[in-house]
Amino acid sequence: MSDITKAKILIVDDEPENIRVLAILLRGKYTATAVTNGFKALEQAVSETARPDLILLDVMMPEMDGYEVCRRLKRDERTRGIPVIFITAMGEVENETLGFQVGATDYIAKPFHPAVVEARVRTHLELKKHRDHLEELAETRARQLIHAERLAMLGTLLAGIAHEINNPLSSILSGVQNTFRRLSPEVEANIAVSKACGAELSVIREYLKQRNIFRYFEAIEENTCRCIKIVSDMLNFSRSSNYPQSIQADIHHLLDDIIHLAISDYDLKKKYNFGHITVIRRYDKGLPQIPCVPNELQQVIFNLLKNAAQAMAEVKQENYKPVIELKTSRSGNEAVIEVADNAGGMAEEIRRRIFDPFFTTKGAGAGTGLGLSISYFIITEIHKGKMSVESGLGKGSRFTICLPL
Ligand SMILES: Nc1ncnc2c1ncn2[C@@H]1O[C@H](COP(=O)(O)OP(=O)(O)OP(=O)(O)O)[C@@H](O)[C@H]1O
Ligand SMILES: [Mg+2]
Repeated sequence: MSDITKAKILIVDDEPENIRVLAILLRGKYTATAVTNGFKALEQAVSETARPDLILLDVMMPEMDGYEVCRRLKRDERTRGIPVIFITAMGEVENETLGFQVGATDYIAKPFHPAVVEARVRTHLELKKHRDHLEELAETRARQLIHAERLAMLGTLLAGIAHEINNPLSSILSGVQNTFRRLSPEVEANIAVSKACGAELSVIREYLKQRNIFRYFEAIEENTCRCIKIVSDMLNFSRSSNYPQSIQADIHHLLDDIIHLAISDYDLKKKYNFGHITVIRRYDKGLPQIPCVPNELQQVIFNLLKNAAQAMAEVKQENYKPVIELKTSRSGNEAVIEVADNAGGMAEEIRRRIFDPFFTTKGAGAGTGLGLSISYFIITEIHKGKMSVESGLGKGSRFTICLPL
């Protein structure tokens, strides 16, 4: 409830006349509905669509009195936060005290003055609005903290794994590279040794070629390089608080450079046809230089461009024209960078997980699922900024980065 004039108020009273008076009083200001007993009130209170923002509750009702309704509302996680105002003729101090004991927010004695009811309803709706907002902030912050903690733990774990894997990988790579060198006709020693063994090097090479052995070695080399890249990403990710120094930089230069790099990137060009994507730049030229670590920021934008290109390559629509929009603007004390694409977008359950390390929907060899978690880390930890995404199936995706100026 961001606007209290849209608030839903539930009147619970067994007397139709009381309901009528209260409904007239609230008419035009809020959406008021009414029920005549406690069971119906509890039913409506848990309904996803009709859940009230405030309840005006009569105390004396047959079957279940207002106190019991209030007790049950306060026991249920879903309805605990709804303010309950008792409206009753039972004006004794004990009744009022009992009302507050069972969790009422306020108490209005009958006969009531319309202005009093109006003022109290408004006050409690305002309070609820602020409380909801605070709860939302606290929840977001808690989520961010959990995420940061998880990233930090993962960082330590990855640093350990990366360290252990680095040496064996380097030795596989140098082994395979040495094998190529020792089979090369350009190295004289190879020709001499093969002759001494009674086999021409060209014959040995021809055999290896015909049996596809060179291809196997090439695959070992390529995949080892890929593993080394993953390990280096892991190490990047796990760098503790030893972050590189920020400098003042022209963000538009950085973006132009990285677009250029993406266009000439072999993989992006070959596998994802980057050259055919229209890149629209909407730069706010009035943006001042921003403090950032240029390489890191460029890595983030590159990841976003690569993801967009990969998602666009999946679109099978006829006459589809892939477009990426890169926009910059200023919002208060922040520089905002937006990267939007018109690819297929993401379903909600995927969108929620994309910043998790190793979360990927891409097949083996196409993605490790580290691109966005590293990007998130670079923006939130190294730059103390914010990173978010808006996306929906069939609606494309828009990543937004806010950097403090
Ligand atoms: N622009 C986008 N459109 C649609 N889905 C996207 C987009 N960007 C990210 N995703 C989804 O988020 C997932 C995680 O992205 P992330 O960049 O972290 O990993 P990845 O691209 O799968 O692997 P890599 O480590 O190579 O980047 C992707 O697998 C994809 O499902
Ligand atoms: Mg990626």
